[in-house]
Amino acid sequence: MSVFAAAPLAPRDPILGLNEQFNADTRADKVNLGVGVYTDAGGKLPLLDCVRAAEAQLAAQPAPRGYLPIDGIPGYVQGAQRQVFGADAAVLQQGRVASLQALGGTGALKVGGDFLKRLQPDARVWISDPSWENHRALFSNAGFEVLSYPYYDATAQGVAFEALLDTLSRDARPGDVVVLHACCHNPTGYDLSRAQWEALVPLLHKQQLVPFLDMAYQGFGAGLNEDAFAVRLMAEAGLAFLVASSFSKSFSLYGERVGSLHVVCGDRDEATRVQSQLKVTARTTYSNPPTHGGKVVAMVLNDPQLCAQWEQELAGMRQRIAAMRTGLVSALKAAGVTAPVDFIAEQRGMFSYSGLKAAQMQRLRSEFGVYGVDSGRICVAALNEANLPRVAEAVAAVMQA
Ligand code: LMR
Repeated sequence: MSVFAAAPLAPRDPILGLNEQFNADTRADKVNLGVGVYTDAGGKLPLLDCVRAAEAQLAAQPAPRGYLPIDGIPGYVQGAQRQVFGADAAVLQQGRVASLQALGGTGALKVGGDFLKRLQPDARVWISDPSWENHRALFSNAGFEVLSYPYYDATAQGVAFEALLDTLSRDARPGDVVVLHACCHNPTGYDLSRAQWEALVPLLHKQQLVPFLDMAYQGFGAGLNEDAFAVRLMAEAGLAFLVASSFSKSFSLYGERVGSLHVVCGDRDEATRVQSQLKVTARTTYSNPPTHGGKVVAMVLNDPQLCAQWEQELAGMRQRIAAMRTGLVSALKAAGVTAPVDFIAEQRGMFSYSGLKAAQMQRLRSEFGVYGVDSGRICVAALNEANLPRVAEAVAAVMQA
């Protein structure tokens, strides 16, 4: 008998597993609102013009592919730091940030998680309830006990902020890691207000908690700088914290795994030591990052004209999502839905937490070919003029049943 006979069948991934089911569906009018991927007005995954231009420049000067430094392309990492912290950030000028090119936002969380586990083996990790489906699995696999703090208030359609503060101040221990969504909370679409961040930061500081900000959707909320508010507030408040950042969505380069990890340290010397530890983690996990996506993003971020073009294209994606949100609200009302739906237009980022139950989501899939996550999350960034009426009709049907 094979040694592998003991391997149990793992459940399908709740998000990426839906893609497999969607691809196998033969209905022509199926709609994929499962995974967090932006598609354009024509329903296609866009190739941004700034990316096309950078790739044309790279193709004009074909280069051999040696190994990159363990922590990635310096121009990429510096460009990512500027986007995350702001070009003039004091923490960057003071050399207090250890950063590395990571394999997407997920890779950044993984390197950060493994680094923290070695440093603080007894720490626990707090994630929001609910959170991105992969957070719990990722930090559990890194060896942490994973706990959750209240986040979603279904009745008030917003953030259960008082309960969040109560739980962290009562139950979190010094050194515990608190995973926070910097913007465009996944899956709910409800973010902390500026005033709420300003109230949370002193608590994190006082309790000696370690914030780990996940910023996978920078630019999809209110804008690149606006969405980095929490990061910059923590940096200015003198906290030691981590940021997992991703360009997968903002550059529409999902498959290139263009992310970065940043660890804000107490001083330059500490940052040097942390940098060396991040490199050990990367080296023993995947050795060093891949070249192409990092080169493309570095070229765009370091060329003022291409960078301006990128910002414009990103704004276009953000505005189209906002239009689809209001379009969905109107279409649901027109379809006779009397339950409150205005919250869909108030949520931020790629998702709407619709409030639909797992059975309703399953009915959306089986009867209407509309795919969303069982938690009730739908990706409004995949709506367009052509599929919106069908989606609204299907959602209205399951809501009114
Ligand atoms: C999502 O939540 O759909 C995205 O972050 C993609 C993923 O990796 O799950």
